[in-house]
Amino acid sequence: MDNRKTVPILPLEAYTDQEWFDREQERIFSRTWAFAGLAEDITEPGQYVSVQAGLNNIFIVMGEDRKLRAFHNICRHRGTQLLRAVGKTRKVITCPYHDWTYDLEGCLRSVPDRRNQFPDLDMTSLGLKRASVARWRGMLWVHPDEDADPITDWFGGVESRLGPHDIDALVEYHKGRTEYTIAANWKIVVENYIDGYHLSHLHSGTLSMYDHSRIESGFAGPHFYFQEPLSPDYAAEVEKNAPQPLVIPAEQAGAWVPMLFPGIGLAENEDSWSVFHVTPLAPDRSRVVTRTKLADVSLLAFASQSIRSYNFWSKKVRGKYDSDDADDPMASGDFMQEDIYACEQQQRSLKSPFFEHGPSALKGEAGVRRHQELVMAWMGKE
Ligand code: FES
Ligand SMILES: [Fe+2]
Repeated sequence: MDNRKTVPILPLEAYTDQEWFDREQERIFSRTWAFAGLAEDITEPGQYVSVQAGLNNIFIVMGEDRKLRAFHNICRHRGTQLLRAVGKTRKVITCPYHDWTYDLEGCLRSVPDRRNQFPDLDMTSLGLKRASVARWRGMLWVHPDEDADPITDWFGGVESRLGPHDIDALVEYHKGRTEYTIAANWKIVVENYIDGYHLSHLHSGTLSMYDHSRIESGFAGPHFYFQEPLSPDYAAEVEKNAPQPLVIPAEQAGAWVPMLFPGIGLAENEDSWSVFHVTPLAPDRSRVVTRTKLADVSLLAFASQSIRSYNFWSKKVRGKYDSDDADDPMASGDFMQEDIYACEQQQRSLKSPFFEHGPSALKGEAGVRRHQELVMAWMGKE
């Protein structure tokens, strides 16, 4: 990545304005593949998940034929949202407002008091509007456009740069599911994710198990890829205590932390795979949901993995600063708390009349500038 222009690309209002936010929803989040869940969220007919994809609420449901279909979550009568969150339907989808009922293939099947109220109704023209659905690398994805290009076209260029795990062979670690509401624009959260410059500073205590001097990162199309090996002393620790058989080859141990456009981070290391899903809520507010999967190793191997991590972490993982305040994120020893703190502080500073963006690091922040260029291009502002 050789982007020598070391000034930020996006204007301040890109991080603060409602109008800019609304345009991003329309031009970026409504025109790209959106993460909708893990493949195991839908395993039987009638099960569904719903997700916001920019301006569109979309649900995926499995039909009686076990095929996945995606529909816009909008009743064809007066537009009420049909399904909420995640769950298992019965055989049909019934709108809560006036009980119009659709089958799992999206066809309108019944309308209460139809003869009296809608004598000329053509039910065949009132099926649910379709969206696109795909399963890719153990995840479910939707695209608002029924005729979207295949997801493999969208992610094809970055696929060989992603981490080494076979995601379908891992099992979800439910306690690893987290949800954060962060008082920062989604781009600040994403920029923090792809900023290699902060790793050895903000996370000097918490991410010392990686060798930040050997980062390999860049963009494949709009998607950011990132890999760094283990630090030599942690690698020795892993070698001593690694469960057998190894989950991934030793030479691939380290952090694989790509950020797929727009806002779907993945994080793999030798033990685990996680998704880090950023959803914009407002110009100054974002939600991040993480879900984690682990190798389905035997209990003994899993225990030894945990002990190994614990031993290393108890020696090495400290907060950036010591503090008597138990709630101080900078003393928490949790890199996520450190990141959230930094993101929220940046967002607050944007309001100060004295805020002025300083120069951007030639290498360590090249990804941040590239991401800003991509956002600008998608917004049609180039
Ligand atoms: S809005 Fe759905 S049945 Fe009326
Ligand atoms: Fe970070």
